[in-house]
Amino acid sequence: MHFDAIGRVPGDPILGLMEAYAQDANPRKFDLGVGVYKDAQGLTPIPEAVKIAEARLVESQDTKTYIGGHGNPLFGKVINELVLGADSQLLTEQRAGATQTPGGTGALRLAADFIAQCLPGKGVWLSNPTWPIHETIFAAAKVKVSHYPYVGSDNRLDVEAMLAVLREVPKGDVVLLHACCHNPTGFDLSHDDWKRVLEVVRNRVLLPLIDFAYQGFGDGLEQDAWSTRLFAAQVPELLITSSCSKNFGLYRDRTGALIVCATSADKLIDIRSQLANIARNLWSTPPDHGAAVVATILADPELKARWADEVEAMRLRIAQLRSGLVEALEPHGLRERFAHIGVQRGMFSYTGLSPEQVKTLRERHSVYMVSSGRANVAGIDATRLALLADAIASACK
Ligand code: LMR
Repeated sequence: MHFDAIGRVPGDPILGLMEAYAQDANPRKFDLGVGVYKDAQGLTPIPEAVKIAEARLVESQDTKTYIGGHGNPLFGKVINELVLGADSQLLTEQRAGATQTPGGTGALRLAADFIAQCLPGKGVWLSNPTWPIHETIFAAAKVKVSHYPYVGSDNRLDVEAMLAVLREVPKGDVVLLHACCHNPTGFDLSHDDWKRVLEVVRNRVLLPLIDFAYQGFGDGLEQDAWSTRLFAAQVPELLITSSCSKNFGLYRDRTGALIVCATSADKLIDIRSQLANIARNLWSTPPDHGAAVVATILADPELKARWADEVEAMRLRIAQLRSGLVEALEPHGLRERFAHIGVQRGMFSYTGLSPEQVKTLRERHSVYMVSSGRANVAGIDATRLALLADAIASACK
């Protein structure tokens, strides 16, 4: 029959962890797998600001008709301002525009198809390691994927190796950079490192694609935008993928944007016509709800301030969990070995645990994390840090 030759592919390793964790009956289990924020109760909360915005939308929304190819114009405006800064010259000159997408992943797919169709022959350079879906999205769009070093086998950020490879990248290629909270490692570039990367990007005339999925989870909403805004001010053309999954807690509502910065307002219109055309073939028009929520929040100064406080509380909780885990490992003589957990930023930590140790943690202690040794620090239960440290110490023996 038609389907007889179709085999089975393994499920997504990150999403698969969610299922495996759900099926584990051990009440002492830890979910450090998929990148979702959890509060002290182990729940992934809906921010209060989102609840308020949703209530307003229920009252005020009077149609569900299609939204245009670029999505909600107010969402486009406020997300541009959140990412680029309200005073961005690009915005006053109308050289930057946002296309609403189904999540940050949708923005990446739109960017990948844009590169494949409108910039044929250009390859994309990804950090090694990077979020596994970066690899598969560009491959699916038939864009050639290459890698620059980022974190070595010693689990340290290697900026010199990164720069050395970037200096050899063919002129005109695309380089994907993580704005902050590098996924999977948690190691971020310093301001000085960013300036050096910028210099190479300019010298090689590379097109930067900045993936900005964790704004607010590193050093703060404004602070995390520093690198993106540096690039926006210093390079003529730029692609930015922005996600509202984590900082608005809108994961399943699939809310994100592809922001394009172009050399002129006129050129931006050309590019946006292409993006709308590509998006039409991918998802036609984007889902509305999450973007309407974000627009409602960011356009209302009071609600925006409330939301910013909630993001800050999430950020601080993650930072405390980082230092708490390092402390809890101290009695095991492991403080030095895991000190990097306190230095890394955002949800993720490349712990340096081997696939074997990750397996032991899962099988003996019901601690779930990605086999690369990536732990979602935001999933840690603060009241059970000692238990987690015991499990890690025993897996390290
Ligand atoms: C992750 O890396 O865990 C998150 O970005 C969620 C996902 O879609 O993989």
